[in-house]
Amino acid sequence: MERGEERYGDRLYSHENPAEADRLGAMAQVFDPYSFERLRPLVRPGSRTCDVGAGLGTVAQWLMSSSGAETVVIDTDVRNLGGRGFKEIQADITDPAFDPGRFDLVHARFVLMHLREREAVLRRMATWVRPGGWLVLSDSWELGAPTSPCAAYRETAAKASELATRTTGSDFNAGRRYPRPMAELGFSEIGFAVDVPVIEGGGALARFWVSTANAARPALVRELGPETVDDALAYLADPETRDIGIAMVTMWGRRP
Ligand SMILES: C[S@@+](CC[C@H](N)C(=O)[O-])C[C@H]1O[C@@H](n2cnc3c(N)ncnc32)[C@H](O)[C@@H]1O
Repeated sequence: MERGEERYGDRLYSHENPAEADRLGAMAQVFDPYSFERLRPLVRPGSRTCDVGAGLGTVAQWLMSSSGAETVVIDTDVRNLGGRGFKEIQADITDPAFDPGRFDLVHARFVLMHLREREAVLRRMATWVRPGGWLVLSDSWELGAPTSPCAAYRETAAKASELATRTTGSDFNAGRRYPRPMAELGFSEIGFAVDVPVIEGGGALARFWVSTANAARPALVRELGPETVDDALAYLADPETRDIGIAMVTMWGRRP
């Protein structure tokens, strides 16, 4: 990485932005039920768990109450994680020297996709799992937007994704690339699931998408013009809208 290059959370999607907690809350509302379904068979009473890039801590909360044991939360910004009994670690997981210890289950959702060093971080995260424990990763796959019947939504989603890739190095198709790395790490009992929520106009996923677009609005408007961006936002607010945006790919495996 070049010195001074922008990173996820520096400016775009910063926790300093008052709208960021709402954006993450809408995302959690949509994707938490899928995550809990994937995690449920892997968490045992007493499992020591770790949620990496924990955001608002909704998955960490579920992990802690499911295991009844300690849950460690790691994030560069822990302002939304206090006072709930987690062990909080404020850290940058791209730091090669960072090591939070060993866990029965390590989980990261929508985190690796935003890191330029995602492959190196994934290899280090795998070492945080104790032998016999589980690594569970979820990231996005742009399954729906590129083929949407609404041109304004299609173009705005494509541009938002391209801008994020250009500015922070995010990869909105990171989940699509998962089948290879977990096998290369020697993990066994590998599972792979794709969950595809429907966008209902004005619903939680539409709200998440609108706040994601609003966070990048000046650049989107500069490149596409205000009409296209506003048409896309109106489409997402329209209660008649039913469409597909990102899918969530979850992959899990057991450390040998
Ligand atoms: C898109 S949010 C996902 C939050 C949560 N995992 C969820 O799915 O609800 C990404 C989270 O990862 C954190 N994050 C981003 N880069 C990080 C880094 N280098 N080290 C630690 N945390 C990071 C952000 O602060 C943010 O809370």
